[in-house]
Parts: sequence; C-alpha cells; structure tokens
Amino acid sequence: MTSAHLGHTTRRPFLLVNIGQLLTLRIEGKSGPRRGTELSELKIIEDAAVLCASGRIISVGKTKDALRDPWVRKNRKKLFEIDCTDKVVLPGFVDSHTHPAFISPRLVDFEKRIAGASYEEIAEAGGGIRSSLADVRKAGKKVLAEKSFQSLDEMASSGTTTVEAKSGYGLSLESEIKSLEAIRNAARHWPGTVVPTLLAAHVVPPEFEDRRENYIDLICEEMIPLATKRKLARFVDVFVERGAFSIKEAGRIFRVARTHGLGIRAHVCQLSAESLGALLEFHPRSLDHLDYVRDADIAKLAARDTIATLVPAANFFLGTHRFPPARKLIDEGVPVALATDYNPGTAPTTSMPFILSLACTQMKMSAAEAIGAATINGAWALDLADRKGSIENGKDADLIVFDVKDYREIPYWLASNNVAFTVVNGVMKETQNSSR
Ligand code: NIG
Ligand code: FE
Repeated sequence: MTSAHLGHTTRRPFLLVNIGQLLTLRIEGKSGPRRGTELSELKIIEDAAVLCASGRIISVGKTKDALRDPWVRKNRKKLFEIDCTDKVVLPGFVDSHTHPAFISPRLVDFEKRIAGASYEEIAEAGGGIRSSLADVRKAGKKVLAEKSFQSLDEMASSGTTTVEAKSGYGLSLESEIKSLEAIRNAARHWPGTVVPTLLAAHVVPPEFEDRRENYIDLICEEMIPLATKRKLARFVDVFVERGAFSIKEAGRIFRVARTHGLGIRAHVCQLSAESLGALLEFHPRSLDHLDYVRDADIAKLAARDTIATLVPAANFFLGTHRFPPARKLIDEGVPVALATDYNPGTAPTTSMPFILSLACTQMKMSAAEAIGAATINGAWALDLADRKGSIENGKDADLIVFDVKDYREIPYWLASNNVAFTVVNGVMKETQNSSR
C-alpha cells in the first residue's frame, strides 16, 4: 500500500518554533471529557514551540523559552527545526466514528434521494446498507484492506491522526471478520492510530430476514467471541433504529460485548426518537447521531461521561434540513464530540475541517467548541484521552500544522484543505494539498 498524500517523513527529534497560535487544549488539573464552557477552552500559546522525540511530546511553551532550554541548546544541531510563523498548530483530529470497510459508492441511492426519496424509503426498497453487502462479501481481504487504507490516507491529508473504524458491510461471520482484518491490515500501513469496532448489528442481512433472532445469536455466540479472541475489535456498536435493531436486541448484544471486555457504543436517535435510559445502563463510551434526542435524556447524558458524538455530514448529505441539537447539548453540560461518520450511504467525506464548518454553520457551535469536540472529546469517545486530543508533555506527538493565521479560519474556509503538514505518532508528514 502506498500513500498518495503523504510525502517527506522524518523520525528525528524535532522542534516546531515561532508558531503563531498553538492550541494546546490543556486545562491544568482537568480530567474527564469537556463540557459547557470548558469545550471552548483552547488554551492558546502565541509565538509558541513544541519539542517532540520518540513519538512523544517532550515540551510545550514559548519559542524564546524553548530556545533557552539547556537540552535544546546542546542538541540543536541534531534537531529538525521547523519555522511555523503565521501558522496554527493543534492536536491531530480524532475522528471517532467512521465506516471505511466498504467497496463502492452508493450512487443509485444518491440519485433516488435527489429525486425525493428518503433514506428509510430507499432502505425499505432494498437499497441502503444492504446494497453494500454484495461487493464486500465478494471482495478479497487485500482489496478491502486497500480500499480502507485509501480512506485512512485521505483522512490523514486533512489532519486526522486517530480514527475509529467500523465493520458493518459484511454481516456474515466470514465477512465481518474479513472487514476487521482489512481494517487491521490497513492500520498497519498507516502511521496514525486506528481503533476497530465490530458493527455486525448494522442491519439484519436478507438471509436472516425471517429469523432475526438467529442473526443476533450469530453475533453473540460467534462474531463477538471470535473478534475478541483475535483481538480484532475494541468496541461493539449497534444501529438502534426502526428498520435496524431494537433497544432490547442491543441490550442482548451489549451484555455479551461486556463479558468479553469490549467497549460499547451505539448509533441512536438518527431517524426517530428513542429513550436512552436502557442504553445508558451499559455505560457506553459514546452515543452517536442523537438528532431526535429527548430533553429528559439530555439531562441524563449531562450527568454521565458518555460522549454525544454528532455527525453533521450525515444530516447535510441526506438533505433533511435537520441537525442534532448541539447548542442545547453543550449548554446543558453534555460532553460533545464531532466525527465524519465516513460511509457510502450518508456521509461520503473524510474531511474533519468540513465537519467543523458544518458544526459552526448548521449547529451554531463556535469554532473553538468545534475544535475541542474534534480533538480532546473525540479522544474521550475512544478511551484514548490519556494519549491523544491535546498538546501536553508525554502525550503522543500527533499535531496538525495549518497554513492559516487564526484558528477560526479552519472552519471558515469551506471545503478547502489548508493543512501544511501533520505529525503522526512522531512522524512528520508533509501533505501536498495546502491550497493557499
Ligand atoms: O451512521 N446509521 C447507520 N449507519 C450509517 C449509515 C450507513 C449506510 O447508510 O451505509 C450512519 O449514518
Ligand atoms: Fe455511522
């Protein structure tokens, strides 16, 4: 697998200097996901420097202090020093909800929707998720890994350094395991961090149409145990929705996931309202979509550490003119993350900057809130906040250098890519796409 977007790499210790705005997102003494006004605390250092070595962040501060540091003075010749004047540096994006293990775009669905059909009408008529099964089932592991890698590579080009990647277009024991193996193989060739999720409960596949209980048996008795045994998944996800799985069915799957030590997350309230109480009993790391979340459940979420992951590209692409109530969630104290939901049916985009633009323009999140939601709260949504999501000593060296002077330009420049280069687990990657 070769990378189309990533150019020069270096593993030498390096020092970024003269950074116009360094968005550290480090709140002294804070642990736990960001809520309310904390979400917009970017903790900006101007004229800043970051020193990285062996894949970790070693020090963070003002340029003048970094250059006076005795270790830096002694080792300066060995350091790879990069001038970041007039640039913005922030933690690599954590895209905590993606479905990259598919083969083809769904162009028939796309055209039907343009002609006025809804996502659910298309799914009921045999389109939707089920129409992505045939070519995934047919595909060799290598082809599926190559496709997944291309998506990861594209994500990296717009600043994503950590990705959650779901299976969910195989929906048989063999094809779900194949999808997770493809994700693992793609991840081995990608410099960033990939968190795999088993989403066998995406929809009931056609051959189990009249015996859905048996499909859930297959998930619980074979898929979860095998994925766990082969360390192919960290989380189990369920699409809780009419036309997909009920809360009760999800509960059965989550109980088994829990006994296997896997984390829990769910798609819920995407197309219709559902009570979250029974799901919250399982302490999900994240509940995603939440377009139809009820006020009573917003209060419940505010009292917990479960992340509300919003995926506005799905709303935008389906053209429903309805977005999740981000403002209410944040103002009431729910920890909110943002993700692409990259998938062939509802969100064919790998771009986190585009998601930030949608969050600001369509959900009235501030640029600062959108950045917090796409970094540190994304890291919480994947149980990785001890390593990812902020720029502080000891964390993984995952950084984006944007060719803009002010962080608000990141969501402002709509559908453009202003990433100058990224640092991914300490490896510097030049991109070839800085458009300005
Ligand atoms: O997050 N809602 C379920 N899963 C995806 C859609 C998958 C598809 O249509 O292929 C989502 O929007
Ligand atoms: Fe999704």
